Amino acid sequence: MFPPPWLLAALTASQAPLPVLAEQVPWASSVPWAKLNDSVDGRLVRGIPFARACFSGVGAGVEGSAGSELCAEVQRDYLNHVALQDSFGTYINTQWETCAATDEKCLLDFTDVTNPKAFEAPKICSQGSIPEYGVNVSSAQDVVEAFKFSKEHGVPLVVKNTGHDYNGRSGGPGTLAIWVHSLRGIVHDPEFRPTGCPATTATHNAVTIGAGITFEDLVNYGDENGLFFPVGGCISVGAAGGYPQGGGHGMLSNVYGLGADRMLEIEVVTPRGDHLIANECQNTDIFWAMRGGGGGTFGVALKITTKAYTTTVVNSVFATVDNKIPGNLYKFFKFFIDHALDYAKEGWGYYLYPSLPGVSLANTLLTPAEANASMTGLMNYLMNELEGSTWEMTVEPDYKTHYPKFVTRIPVPMGFAMTTTSRLIPVSSFEAEDKRVELAQAMTAIIEAAPVAIAFGVAPYMHGNKNETSVNPAWYDSLWHLAIANVWNYDADTAAVKKIYHDLSENMEPFRKLAPDSGAYMNEADVYEPNFEKSFWGDNYPRLLSIKEKYDPDHLLDCWQCVGWLGEKHSRYSCYIDIHEGEPKPAQWKRAWDEM
Ligand SMILES: Cc1cc2nc3c(=O)[nH]c(=O)nc-3n(C[C@H](O)[C@H](O)[C@H](O)COP(=O)(O)OP(=O)(O)OC[C@H]3O[C@@H](n4cnc5c(N)ncnc54)[C@H](O)[C@@H]3O)c2cc1C
Ligand SMILES: *[C@@H]1O[C@H](CO)[C@@H](O)[C@H](O)[C@H]1NC(C)=O
Ligand SMILES: *[C@@H]1O[C@H](CO)[C@@H](O)[C@H](O)[C@H]1NC(C)=O
Ligand SMILES: *[C@@H]1O[C@H](CO)[C@@H](O)[C@H](O)[C@H]1NC(C)=O
Ligand SMILES: *[C@@H]1O[C@H](CO)[C@@H](O)[C@H](O)[C@H]1NC(C)=O
Repeated sequence: MFPPPWLLAALTASQAPLPVLAEQVPWASSVPWAKLNDSVDGRLVRGIPFARACFSGVGAGVEGSAGSELCAEVQRDYLNHVALQDSFGTYINTQWETCAATDEKCLLDFTDVTNPKAFEAPKICSQGSIPEYGVNVSSAQDVVEAFKFSKEHGVPLVVKNTGHDYNGRSGGPGTLAIWVHSLRGIVHDPEFRPTGCPATTATHNAVTIGAGITFEDLVNYGDENGLFFPVGGCISVGAAGGYPQGGGHGMLSNVYGLGADRMLEIEVVTPRGDHLIANECQNTDIFWAMRGGGGGTFGVALKITTKAYTTTVVNSVFATVDNKIPGNLYKFFKFFIDHALDYAKEGWGYYLYPSLPGVSLANTLLTPAEANASMTGLMNYLMNELEGSTWEMTVEPDYKTHYPKFVTRIPVPMGFAMTTTSRLIPVSSFEAEDKRVELAQAMTAIIEAAPVAIAFGVAPYMHGNKNETSVNPAWYDSLWHLAIANVWNYDADTAAVKKIYHDLSENMEPFRKLAPDSGAYMNEADVYEPNFEKSFWGDNYPRLLSIKEKYDPDHLLDCWQCVGWLGEKHSRYSCYIDIHEGEPKPAQWKRAWDEM
């Protein structure tokens, strides 16, 4: 196997010269990969682009083979996010498989996966930002070996689970990935007491899950065991990786808190090579940091313990508004915003869709009769005042039944290039009439600005224990996480992609101005978030930075706009487009915390 066949192929190729990676991997030929493979019991894998089999021409470093049958399989699964998240070299938002700055990629036309223009000559399949190698982790020792190897040979590392990260934090050109997706297992303990805590410490109904467990696994496990888990809105997201470590919202997080709130313990391997249990009684600093400080930064979680709840009925509502009737949209938003604090206090969580337009709501706190009474005002308003509206209210017997009908009813796009930008909308925006008017106007205008927009009514407003995590404290003083998004296809070049990022970022400005002291959710944020340290973590940033320095003094872990990162000019970020190139950088791009 060694030296890698792609290198031999590149050296001996007699055809047209092979294109090289933008940043030619400096360590490619000298690194003893076979040695690493031995040290991890043969668990080293190659990162192969998902669409590889459809291309007859490949760039440097691309392994795998082509063939029409294999290509047909790729085409069948190209938009199947469950297949995508299980594949090592694959990213749900496909621009993270590419090198955006150089336009090197290996993508199909997602609107017609059989379109030959995407993959026939002269198109070639490039490695892009897909890690060259990955350790298919099965034990703490595998992670220790990867850290040792990175330190010894200067190979940059990433941590990858499902590859859902919106900001490309689980990939990178020329990297070795610590791939945790094969760590499975779910163990239920109705009286979980964090390891090492005194017998007087409160116990919780909880499950301990492997790092690779997804929302789908948890929803199914809950269904089989009389439990439920208030997870997020796409079944293929990891339940133990970036989601709880960076925040983690779901339709019911108003009441049940964020994924970070629900975490009780983490089994983690740190870049220093320590294998630790972190909870409220031991290693409390890294426990706190990994409850909101972001994935891929402080260590690699092998397992986490998260709260479980006894299964319950879910009061569900799905309503739509006809926005072809002038004025309807603004009236709908204004009415909803006027009552949003009441809805939150009564335990409702929801996804409000400006582009549908409509709303999906859920509640487990109220009895069906109470829920019915609570929603009567909204129903009457829609049915009597807004012509063309629809209304549906049901009592779903359990979370698993509720989930596909209401949470994923409007599917979040996936399996192609997509980017988002967002803002946490504070409680104060709902308290005063002038603020509510301002918000309703901004919401009405938003559909002009972006094809995808969702106001997630998911802030942990009703959840207690508001100071235990390291997420931006603004989360606990908000009602909404508002996100807009845009998508593009395989044929968008660097300039087109740059414009999409740039314009989307600009389109968030009204909401940044409306809530200047708030922040943004790091997992679903602008890739080019201004002043990101403050935006993602608020006053928690300095403490997070000191914990990063303690556990990762050599910066073996690093990711885009993560705590203590090496900065946008570092070579590992060479595939990110500089969207402000050629224009003066906005003042807030200065790293505010550098002065602290
Ligand atoms: C279609 C879609 C729907 C989504 N829906 C929601 C939602 O409803 N609610 C919500 O809050 N978010 C949602 N997200 C965002 C999601 O929370 C983030 O993408 C999250 O980072 C995914 O984590 P992952 O581990 O699955 O993905 P990855 O991309 O594999 O990893 C994400 C980050 O976590 C790090 N990481 C992964 N595993 C570990 C580990 N074991 N130890 C340490 N670091 C690790 C990676 O290095 C990377 O920085 C959604 C994303 C997508 C694409
Ligand atoms: C690692 O070793 C195993 C077992 O020998 C082998 O099957 C695998 O292909 C090797 N991985 C790489 C990337 O060469
Ligand atoms: C990774 O390891 C798991 C077992 O731990 C195995 O089932 C899977 O096939 C491996 N994946 C690859 C791509 O080698
Ligand atoms: C409440 O229940 C009554 C009686 O079934 C029904 O007519 C009404 O539409 C319900 N209200 C809501 C808000 O769904
Ligand atoms: C949270 O606040 C409570 C009460 O003010 C305090 O006892 C506790 O130590 C705080 N916890 C953290 C993690 O700061």
